[in-house]
Amino acid sequence: MSGQFSRVAALLLEGQPGTSVSVSGWVRTRRDSKQGFSFIELNDGSCMANLQVVVDADVPGYADVIHDVTTGSSLSITGELKESPGAKQRVELQASSIELLGTADAESYPLQKKRHSFEFLREIAHLRPRTNTFGAIARVRNCVCYSIHNFFQTRGFLNVQTPIITTSDCEGAGEMFTVTTLLNELRVESGESRAGESSEALSSQLSTLNWTDDFFGKRASLTVSGQLEAEIYATSLGPVYTFGPTFRAENSNTARHLAEFWMVEPEMPFCDLDGDMQLAEDFIKTIIRDALDQCADDMEFFNQRIEKTVLETLNNILEHEFKRISYTEAVDIITATDRKWEYPVTWGDNLQAEHERYLTEEHFKQPMIVFDYPRSIKPFYMYCNDDGKTVRAMDVLVPRVGEIIGGSQREHRLDVLDTRLQECGLDSEEYWWYRDLRRYGTVPHAGFGLGLERMLLLLTGMQNIRDVIPFPRTPKHAEF
Ligand code: 4AD
Ligand code: MG
Repeated sequence: MSGQFSRVAALLLEGQPGTSVSVSGWVRTRRDSKQGFSFIELNDGSCMANLQVVVDADVPGYADVIHDVTTGSSLSITGELKESPGAKQRVELQASSIELLGTADAESYPLQKKRHSFEFLREIAHLRPRTNTFGAIARVRNCVCYSIHNFFQTRGFLNVQTPIITTSDCEGAGEMFTVTTLLNELRVESGESRAGESSEALSSQLSTLNWTDDFFGKRASLTVSGQLEAEIYATSLGPVYTFGPTFRAENSNTARHLAEFWMVEPEMPFCDLDGDMQLAEDFIKTIIRDALDQCADDMEFFNQRIEKTVLETLNNILEHEFKRISYTEAVDIITATDRKWEYPVTWGDNLQAEHERYLTEEHFKQPMIVFDYPRSIKPFYMYCNDDGKTVRAMDVLVPRVGEIIGGSQREHRLDVLDTRLQECGLDSEEYWWYRDLRRYGTVPHAGFGLGLERMLLLLTGMQNIRDVIPFPRTPKHAEF
């Protein structure tokens, strides 16, 4: 093994019969023929397909290693590409040398050649990327990340890194994970004394803790959104975007929520809600087009094996302009049906996933944007409409996923912002720098946030958001 090896994807696409190549990867299956040679299906993660390798019995060491070439073992193989007699692939590899890098005990290796449930695979998140499904998800996720950067870079947006540790709660929903070193100083170690005693001792110590003694001198948390900091750069440098992990301690154990997820947030100065909605639509369509173009085999796999409507849904999104309706119209539509809702809605209530999905999947049957939500259910930073009741918020809804994007025009008028901070029970002194942006050269601006994992649910047809992020964090789960 020299480190000089070809990737299977490239060989299957353009490898020339007659050339000598080396490949390395993991065995999916091995079949031995009666004539004394073996077929190995080798996968190296570069694409869905395996490379078929033919190993004749006269290859050096054949008899010594072939029995250990089991599903999951790792190999380096050198040989010559041959035209494949089968119709499935252009080329196969005729081995001249084979090196067994690592065995995988057939009795205990968890990924045998059968279908495993996604629940089971979640328990072995260290091995699941070796399956077809999780390999395809990883490649599509990679493609989407590239597409996101490309979309904004080609439009002149500046990539800004916003902090992960922050002292402001952007969404004001109290869903922050606290970051502290105060607990390090607690004297009671768990297990040191009996559970009841230690918790009593703990709580008496906790009651004396003071945030001013903490590492940052005030209460700090993991960010729920990079928006507020993105606004700083957008109102200095022009359009920006931030793309990073965000954290929410919401205890909603659903197939659409993670405690740690990736969010991309563009922020544009001199932009109103219409411009924001247009960008969101162009953005989603571009990501879909790129995935269909660049990951055709993986997307075909999702359509055949995971969800039969994936490609149809995506093409439907590409073909339609996003239907735009106000929150008020949305509530009218929802209340006009005679359906029994788990959460009945009246004007002023939050729309629930069941309502969002009804609108996009059944009523309009296409992607849509709901705008102008009641100000009482939205965060302090959204631009207040003249009606005194609504704010310039928007949510993009798509079939099977529901809300995929949330955004708004921002309140750039200092006096209105101050009223909103007060309405939301927030201390305006805590937001002194955010207010400064309105005191000095304020401009209308707008932005949105797309959850990367929600986008992947849409693209892959996977049902559970835990399966489209490598290492999901959800209530009671952070094993890997
Ligand atoms: O609607 P949200 O809460 O909006 C914001 O955070 C704004 N600050 C964004 C902005 O205007 N810059 O979240 C935005 C998106 C949602 O539409 C959803 O796709 C995703 O983030 N999201 C989640 N994804 C997975 N798990 C969760 N717990 C999520 N919460 C939000
Ligand atoms: Mg939202």
